[in-house]
Amino acid sequence: MTMIQNLSVIGLGKLGASMLAGMASRGFSVIGVDIRESCIRAVNKGRAPVQETGLEEMISAHSDRIRATTSHEEAVLASDISFVIVPTPSDSRGAFELQYAKYAFEQLGKALAKKDGYHVVVLTSTVIPGATRHGLLPVLEAASGKECGRDFGLCYSPEFIALGSVIHDFLNPDFYLVGEFDRRSGDVLEEVNRAVCLKDPVVRRMSIENAEIAKLALNSYVTMKISFANTLADLCERIPGGDVDVVSDALGSDTRIGRRYLTGGLGFAGPCFPRDNVALGFLCEQVGADGDLLLANHGYNTSIAARVTTKIASLLRAGQTAAVLGLSYKPLSHIVEESQGVALALAMAEAGMRVIGYDPLAADGARSAFRDKALVAESIDAALADAALVVVTTPDAHFRELKAEEFLGGKESVTVVDCWRCLDPAVADHPDIDYVPIGRCLDDAPAAQVLEAIWAR
Ligand SMILES: NC(=O)c1ccc[n+]([C@@H]2O[C@H](COP(=O)([O-])OP(=O)(O)OC[C@H]3O[C@@H](n4cnc5c(N)ncnc54)[C@H](O)[C@@H]3O)[C@@H](O)[C@H]2O)c1
Repeated sequence: MTMIQNLSVIGLGKLGASMLAGMASRGFSVIGVDIRESCIRAVNKGRAPVQETGLEEMISAHSDRIRATTSHEEAVLASDISFVIVPTPSDSRGAFELQYAKYAFEQLGKALAKKDGYHVVVLTSTVIPGATRHGLLPVLEAASGKECGRDFGLCYSPEFIALGSVIHDFLNPDFYLVGEFDRRSGDVLEEVNRAVCLKDPVVRRMSIENAEIAKLALNSYVTMKISFANTLADLCERIPGGDVDVVSDALGSDTRIGRRYLTGGLGFAGPCFPRDNVALGFLCEQVGADGDLLLANHGYNTSIAARVTTKIASLLRAGQTAAVLGLSYKPLSHIVEESQGVALALAMAEAGMRVIGYDPLAADGARSAFRDKALVAESIDAALADAALVVVTTPDAHFRELKAEEFLGGKESVTVVDCWRCLDPAVADHPDIDYVPIGRCLDDAPAAQVLEAIWAR
């Protein structure tokens, strides 16, 4: 097999732009394609088209090997393999829509019609199992007039990355997931994977459908771990001396379990976890498998904001203001999709509280999610000024570093709900602060009575 040198990336968004930069950093010549002119101009000037850690530096450092265009044909003719990473938004059933991917595949097909040599198309976008073979391959074959396997190759190969560390995760994956139409397609992709990876990678090769399931299953499994930890947090609050961190540290020491995603606090959020879990449940339902576990997990996760709101309501008097610190779905992000902070603020507003939110990066997104139901402050101080109660929803350094005096802001007292038990211990110990950590029992006596009553019966 010839050594592959030229790659193309179709879709230069949050994931695709970092893939383009990462591949170029490993010596490949990479052509990026996007339908947004602004994105093409940025990349061709050596700038990042989206915000991501280290992206601008990497694009500019390797600009001699990076080119961007709106022409799918140009990209196909000048490369041996194309990675398609366009949006696949969720539809109302919880499945993923294919319209962007179909358009991209149609353009790639038309280009393949004009190409003589072998070319591999890799779908990286998240899809429902079956979509690659039955939703997209026919588009490629119809537009190209060619046959998969004989004239070109096809793989489904998602990346496991977290926003904020996309480039690092892309270059240092735990493993590569390769769903291959046939052996030749998989061989080409594995060769590229091995050359891109900064370490000796584990490559898991399988059928396209098994890879589609594995991608959703991985995220779904992690969400179940998070929900399990949240169940423990809820339980520990009701047991004398209960402390979810003590329990999770013990569980996490077992190598079958591991400590990650076991902290307990608020629910899972963001653009991937909730929707991948729901999509797997949807698929189970469609094919007659039992997806109850997955759908129950989703239902449990979406109920957490209401549960925490009930707790908060018992700590606040009518007419008092509550501040919600943390509106993005995780620290250092501007994304509010499925954010627990936003869900909590809205549930609190719905329950009649006056709510003022703050986030160092996500103010704009939160404002449009809130409409006029809750306010978004310009600064932490402004958010805290009138707040009788403050909820900290993410372990953002801006919040972890807050001092007791800042929470108090000149007031006589304040209640602080610490969802991740991440605040300065001096805040918890301050005599004028009523510190309420999620996941720890705060009142042993009534909890002990409830426990005793079980044995009395
Ligand atoms: N962002 C993540 O954390 C993440 C993680 C895992 C998987 N994914 C999946 O990756 C896919 C892309 O996600 P994203 O966050 O990068 O999306 P994004 O919206 O940030 O970027 C998609 C880009 O594709 C471009 N595009 C749309 N149609 C196109 C076409 N026909 N040709 C060329 N470009 C086109 C858009 O203009 C946009 O720039 C989705 O399926 C998503 O589920 C994302």
